[in-house]
Amino acid sequence: MVRLILDSSTGGYPVLIGTNLGRELRNVITRLDPTGAAIVTDTNARPYAVKVAKAIKRAGLKTAIYAIPASERSKSIEQLQNVLGFLERQQIDRGGIVIAVGGGTVGDLAGFAAAVWQRGVRLVAVPTTLLAMVDSSIGGKTGVNGRKSKNAIGAFWQPSAVISDIATLESLPAPNYRDAFAEVVKYAVAMDRGLFDLLQRNSPRLLEGDTSMLERIVFRCVAAKALIVAKDERDRGPRAILNYGHTAGHALEAATGFRITHGRAVAFGMRVAARIALSRELCSRRLVESQDELLNAFGLPDQPPHVEPKRILAAMALDKKARRGKVAWVMPRRIGHAEVGHTIPAALVRRVVTRSLG
Ligand SMILES: NC(=O)c1ccc[n+]([C@@H]2O[C@H](COP(=O)([O-])OP(=O)(O)OC[C@H]3O[C@@H](n4cnc5c(N)ncnc54)[C@H](O)[C@@H]3O)[C@@H](O)[C@H]2O)c1
Ligand SMILES: [Zn+2]
Repeated sequence: MVRLILDSSTGGYPVLIGTNLGRELRNVITRLDPTGAAIVTDTNARPYAVKVAKAIKRAGLKTAIYAIPASERSKSIEQLQNVLGFLERQQIDRGGIVIAVGGGTVGDLAGFAAAVWQRGVRLVAVPTTLLAMVDSSIGGKTGVNGRKSKNAIGAFWQPSAVISDIATLESLPAPNYRDAFAEVVKYAVAMDRGLFDLLQRNSPRLLEGDTSMLERIVFRCVAAKALIVAKDERDRGPRAILNYGHTAGHALEAATGFRITHGRAVAFGMRVAARIALSRELCSRRLVESQDELLNAFGLPDQPPHVEPKRILAAMALDKKARRGKVAWVMPRRIGHAEVGHTIPAALVRRVVTRSLG
C-alpha cells in the first residue's frame, strides 16, 4: 500500500492506494471521529458499500447505505435532492461524514451533497473505477449535470480522505476499465515521461489487471494531478493542462450525442491535439507516433464513429472552456510536457479533425 498526503486550502488529506484496505478505512474513520456516517453508492458498486459499512460498524459507528441508479443520469438535481433527504433522515450533523463508494458519477454527486449539506460536511471518497481513482476523486470538483449542460452545477469541495482499493476494479466492465487508460495516457504525455515509459513496458500486464502495476500507475496519476491542483485549486490557469485531449474529445462526445465513451473521445482528442502540435512544429513526429502506439496498445482505436467534421467544430465553439468563442488548446511539446493556452487557427483545426475522422 502507498499513502500520499495531499495539500489543499482546507488542509491536508491522505490518499491510500492498495488492495483490501478495510483495516485502513477503519483507521481513517476512527481518526476522523465523526458523529455519524452516511454511505452513498450506486446499484453496481453496492457490494463494496456493504463492505465499507461493515468496516465502519467495526469502528463502532452506525451507518446506512443509499444506492442511486447506476447511470450518468443520476448526476442530477433530482438525485441530489434524494441524497440530501437521506442525509437528513440519517441525522448527519456538522460533525458527520459522507462516504462516496463508486465511480465518478457517485463521487461527483455525493461530493456535491457533502459540500452543501449543513454548508459542508466531511467527505470520504472510496473510488471503485479506474477513472475515479486516477482522476475524479482527486482535485475537489463536485457537482451534477444541468438539464442540458454537463457538470453545470457544482462546488469545489476537497475530500478528507481518499481510499483507492485496487481490488474493487476486478468487477469493472471491460470497456470502462480499458477506456480509463486514455486519462492515464493523458497524464503521461502531458506531465510524466516516467509514467509514459512504464505504460509502454507494461500495457499487457495492466490490461490483465495486475494489481501491483495498477497500484504504481494510480499512484503516479494521483501525484501528477495533485501537483497541478496544488498550483491551481480553483482551475483558473495551469490546471487547464489536465484538459489535454479534451478539446476535440468533448466536442466528439457532444457531436455523437454521448454515444461514445469519454475515454475513447479523449483518445481521439489527444490524437488530434498532437497532430495540430506537429503541424505547428511544436512537437516531433516521433511524439505523435509513440502516443498513437500507446493508445493502440490500450485498445483505444484510431477510428472514431462516423460524424460530420462540422458538427465537431460547432461543438468545440460551444465548449465551456472556450472564452468568447476562443478555444485554448493544450499542446504537447515532448513526452511528459505540454503547454496550455495555445490559440489554433480554425482552418488548421478543421483540416486535422477531418483527416483524423478518416
Ligand atoms: N470531479 C472530477 O474532477 C471528474 C473528473 C473526471 C470525470 N468526472 C465524472 O466522472 C464520471 C465518470 O466516472 P466513471 O467512469 O467512474 O463512471 P461511473 O461512475 O458512471 O461508473 C461506470 C460504471 O461502472 C459501474 N461501477 C462502478 N464501480 C464498479 C465496480 N467496482 N465494479 C463494477 N461496476 C462498477 C457504475 O455503476 C457504472 O455503471 C462522469 O460523470 C464525469 O463527469 C469527474
Ligand atoms: Zn476526462
